[in-house]
Formats: sequence, C-alpha cells, structure tokens
Amino acid sequence: MSRENRRDFIQKSAAAAAGASLMAAPAIAKSRQSANDRLRVCLVGLRGRGRRHLEALHEMAKENVEIAAFCDCDERIAQTASENYEKRTGKKIPVIVDYQKMLEDKSIDAVSLATPNHWHALQTIWACQAKKDVLVEKPASHNIWEGKQMIKAAEKYGIIVQHGTQCRASPNIREGIQKLHEGAIGRIYMVRGVAFKRRASGRDDFQPVPPGMHWDKWLGPAPDAKYNLLAIQRWRFLKQYGNGEIGDQGVHQLDIMRWGLQIDTHPNRVQSMGGMYMYPTGDQTTPGTQTFSCQYDDHDIMLQFDVRNGYTNPEAGMGTEYPFVDHRNVVGVIFLGTEGYMIFPNYSSYYTFLGSKREPGPSASTEGAPMMDLDLFQNWASAIRQRDPSTLMAPIQEGYLSSVLPHLANIAYETRRTLEFDPKSETFIGDDEANQYLTRDYRAPYIVPQEV
Ligand SMILES: NC(=O)c1ccc[n+]([C@@H]2O[C@H](COP(=O)([O-])OP(=O)(O)OC[C@H]3O[C@@H](n4cnc5c(N)ncnc54)[C@H](O)[C@@H]3O)[C@@H](O)[C@H]2O)c1
Repeated sequence: MSRENRRDFIQKSAAAAAGASLMAAPAIAKSRQSANDRLRVCLVGLRGRGRRHLEALHEMAKENVEIAAFCDCDERIAQTASENYEKRTGKKIPVIVDYQKMLEDKSIDAVSLATPNHWHALQTIWACQAKKDVLVEKPASHNIWEGKQMIKAAEKYGIIVQHGTQCRASPNIREGIQKLHEGAIGRIYMVRGVAFKRRASGRDDFQPVPPGMHWDKWLGPAPDAKYNLLAIQRWRFLKQYGNGEIGDQGVHQLDIMRWGLQIDTHPNRVQSMGGMYMYPTGDQTTPGTQTFSCQYDDHDIMLQFDVRNGYTNPEAGMGTEYPFVDHRNVVGVIFLGTEGYMIFPNYSSYYTFLGSKREPGPSASTEGAPMMDLDLFQNWASAIRQRDPSTLMAPIQEGYLSSVLPHLANIAYETRRTLEFDPKSETFIGDDEANQYLTRDYRAPYIVPQEV
C-alpha cells in the first residue's frame, strides 16, 4: 500500500472506529509506520529561515528524509536554491512556484513552511487538507482566530504539525524547565523576557514587480498593495504581514516563559505600550520599543516582556557573559523565584543563581550555543513516522498558546489601554474594538476557511 493510501486507510478505519468526530483526538495516532520509511519534504519559502530548514533536512538525508521540492513564489529564490543544491550534492531538486499546485503532488509527504507570518495559517490548513504533515515557523499564525483554525485542521485530518519554536528541542532547556518545575528557585513570582535586537528601520520603496516574483502569491491573504521592497525586506515590522519584534523573536522567549510557568491558558489582563522611538521617521508599523505585561487570575505571578531595537544594556549579562549567536542582540528569559533566579540566555542553555549572594546553582550549556534546528526537525520526522502528535516537542497547540501572547500584546498596544480577556471564549470582555483584532479581512481567494 502506498504511503498516501495507507494514511487514508488508517484515517478512515480510525474514523469509523471512533464513530464520531475526528477532532477530539488525532484519529491516526495509534498507527505506526516504519522508522525507515522515506519521508519526502517540500521546503516552502527559501529566502531566509528556509536555508536553515534546508540544512536540517539535508543533514537528515542519512535518516531517509528527502528534499522533494523547493517552493517559493519568487522563482529566482527557488531557482537559486535548487542550483546551489545541485552544485553541492549533484542532486537536482524540482522548483514549484505555486504552493497549491505542489499540494496536489501525492509523492510529497510533508511541507516545512518558512514563509512570512500572514501565510502560516492558510498554508498549514491547506496542507492538512491535502494530508501532508507540516512544520510551520513561529509565530503559529498572524492572528488569534486563524491559529485556532490551524489546530482544528491538524486534529480533523490527523496531521502532525510541529511549531518552529526550536528551544523546545534543546535537552539543556528542557532540563532547566524541569528544574524550575521541581522548585529549583522556589516559587516563581515573576518572569521577564527580552528581545533586544538591533534592527534598522526603512522607508517604503515601491518598485515594479521584479521578473520571477509572483507578487499576488506573496501578498496572499493580506490586503492588496503595490510591490514594496520594504515589505520584502522588513515584512515582520509591517503589521499586515508580520507581528513586530514581540511576535518575531519574542515568541521564542514567551514560549519558554509560559512553559516554565506551566500555564496552558491565556492571561486575563494585558497591557502594552511603546512606539517607533529609535527611528521615528521609518515606515514600519509595529513598535521598535515595546513593553508588555499580563496577569493570570489563577496564578500569583507577573509576566513581563520588553522589546528594544537600539543600543542597550546587556540585561543580566545576557548580552555579554553568555553565548548567543550575535552579541549585538540580547534575548532571553529571567525567572525570578523566592529562592533565586534562572536565566535562559539563548536557545540551548540555562543558569541558576541562588540566595542573596547569587551562588551558582544548576546549569547546562553546549559549546557554541547551538540553535537546535536539527533537533526540532528530527523530532518532527520521528512523530510523523509514528503518526503520533503526542511525541512532538513543539506541537501546534503549544505554539498557538505562546503565539497568542504577542497577539494580545499587539492588540493592547493598538487599543492603548488595559484589556480584559476571557481565556475560555478567547474574546475581550465587552470590547468590540479589541475583538476586531482577533481576526482580519482576508483577500479573496486567500481566505482562511471557517470550516476547515
Ligand atoms: N525559528 C527561528 O529561529 C526563525 C528564525 C527566522 C525566521 N523565522 C520565521 O521564518 C519565517 C520566514 O522568515 P524569513 O526571515 O525567512 O522571511 P523571508 O522573507 O526571508 O523569506 C520568506 C520566503 O517566503 C517566500 N514566500 C512568500 N509567500 C510565499 C508563498 N505564497 N509561497 C511560497 N513562498 C512564499 C518569499 O518569497 C521568501 O522567499 C517567518 O515566519 C519567521 O518568523 C524563524
């Protein structure tokens, strides 16, 4: 039986056995596949992050993972990736411009999505409908509502959806989180995250659409707009495509914060302020300086996050003492407890300091501060082969919960006031203006479906 037929068969049998909705539990979770089954993955979006996906997937060739195709709506980017890969390996990888066409290819088992945030939900949902497993970059979605649709689609079709928060795959970070849960710093009363990245600003730069760029496909669900180089280069700071720094770098840290606190719900109260203070004349539409704080009714803790895009202090040594990929950037998390504090200054280490003398406590790090990409992909492939989403280290459900935090922050920033959120209904209480930001107007035909 072919892989596709087997998957269909397993799904239908499981659905029949369940006799009801596939949504409650992944219907195919109990059916295993051989660990050696070939896994053919299409890489989607190859300009920036996609190159790291490529390296991870290339590394996994020895584990019978095959790069099946390169998909990018900018033909030049996909073509260059293919040419470079052929030079390097002698293997020619087909280039596919149209993502939906690619999904029709039944020989492709899975997709890894490194496209801008405004595309994550729709591309994930379409892949689930085409029964392809998904690794989707962070933040899970561009807004809160479409994130819920992604989870529905994953659960309905029994698809393995991993979220691109690769710190979850770091044994050192997992150890640190475990220590926190065991009370290494006592009871946590506050957690602070920072994303201080030196980011240049920019001005709108409208130009003719370059040859090979399928601009309508780049825009996708976002409002119609002229081709703008600023969007290509700095989409993460334009709110129709990105979610600002807090929804970019910040998601990694907010995910660690929520994980360390063992909170699997949303906050009840959120605040955020900020502005474009470092580069007031830039055309970015998300804040370069931003603070966010929130509270949970059932937890006696304060969660706080800061974004800065200019020169800054190193923040508890995170910009100087500990290894990170680039010390111009200070990113990390500090958990503060009744016995001491714990720092996560990168993607693969933690350090503890105890008592008033700040005596060193438990810690773990790996030389070179690895970014843990390969580990995340390997975990994804293993979950696919087992058809078991419960073995995912960063399942879409966790990615969604962590991505809601920057979305809430950005809504509070837009509305300029403290907002009351109801975690059960996932709506703001009595606040029509804030509730408008839970979703967006989708540009036809790129509409995230109500019924996935
Ligand atoms: N996990 C991490 O550490 C990490 C690091 C960097 C970026 N990211 C995430 O990766 C994603 C991509 O970021 P980036 O910096 O690589 O962006 P980028 O703009 O450099 O690359 C995005 C690519 O997607 C392509 N694309 C856009 N629409 C497409 C479509 N409809 N079909 C096919 N291709 C399409 C673009 O042409 C471009 O080549 C973002 O979600 C970002 O948050 C994650």
